[in-house]
Amino acid sequence: MNLNRNCICLISVVATMAFPMNLMAAPAPIVIKFSHVVDRHTPKGQAADYFKKLAEERTKGRVKVVVYPDSQLYKDKEEMEALQLGAVQMLASSLSKFALLGVKEFEVFDLPFLFDNYQELHKVTQGPIGARLLARLEQKGIHGLAYWDNGFKVMSANKPLKAIQDFKGQKLRIQSSKVLDSQMRALGATPQIMAFSDVYQALQTGIVNGTENPPSNLHTQKMHEVQKYITLSDHGYLGYAVIVNKKFWAGLPADIRAILESAMKDATKYANDIAKRDNDEALAAVKKSGKSQFITLTAQERAQWKKTMDKAHKDNMGRIGTELVKEIYKETGYSPD
Ligand code: LMR
Repeated sequence: MNLNRNCICLISVVATMAFPMNLMAAPAPIVIKFSHVVDRHTPKGQAADYFKKLAEERTKGRVKVVVYPDSQLYKDKEEMEALQLGAVQMLASSLSKFALLGVKEFEVFDLPFLFDNYQELHKVTQGPIGARLLARLEQKGIHGLAYWDNGFKVMSANKPLKAIQDFKGQKLRIQSSKVLDSQMRALGATPQIMAFSDVYQALQTGIVNGTENPPSNLHTQKMHEVQKYITLSDHGYLGYAVIVNKKFWAGLPADIRAILESAMKDATKYANDIAKRDNDEALAAVKKSGKSQFITLTAQERAQWKKTMDKAHKDNMGRIGTELVKEIYKETGYSPD
């Protein structure tokens, strides 16, 4: 009994001498900083947290994912630069912001009324066109991993926006996208590009009169508290591409990369499964708050919006790539007026 204990002691002393503590310790984990600009409870926020969980569990701690939500680390433009410089490793930027990287084809997703529903959208994002677009990022030092859904946008303001003439004189915040700029100008409004993190205050102080966003963003940023009217227009789509610094990704051990790819695949399914429900719930919560009034469009009014906004298609078709736009029209059945 005693002999055994002495033996064990001796073995552990010898082992400690042969392998000093610092060599015996597990290697430091690979850290992935994942920055995004929205609240944790949005579809993107939840999917980022789910990816973290899967990645850390499946790599058994060899990878640590640190998620920075709500523009804690960087705002819209800065996060793109940070990714290219390697200051963060992963983002899920809105497709509307990819022209900031010089890849303007992504603005195709901003074309108003292009997608009527998630099914039409997925034909593009989950098919060969989506893959081709992600491949275009490689030349910018970025590797595209997946598309994550958010949803279809509502228009909000402090006056009811129903007929086209209602937009006249309205200053409306947009994301950094030439297509969204054209869309607002076609309506007769004045677009103003602004970082997402500045929108609430700009609405509150009247720097802008209104904006467009899916309900999940509107609700989690409390925009409804400073917007009297919300038009349920579903006039355009807002979603994301999950992207990584290419050098970082290529430099990962192959087994780790494969595990992370599987975690991303499952996080993508999760994101796209919850997006619609989450937006529906956000809308219901806004309604319940009683802070803003909902406006629905008649079929004729909606047709008028579509017809008016079609100018954004015509004005940007050449910029985005006529062939690409027409290819997507074929997938979704969009027909210009
Ligand atoms: C916005 O700026 O309105 C959105 O891109 C925010 C986001 O990431 O959903």
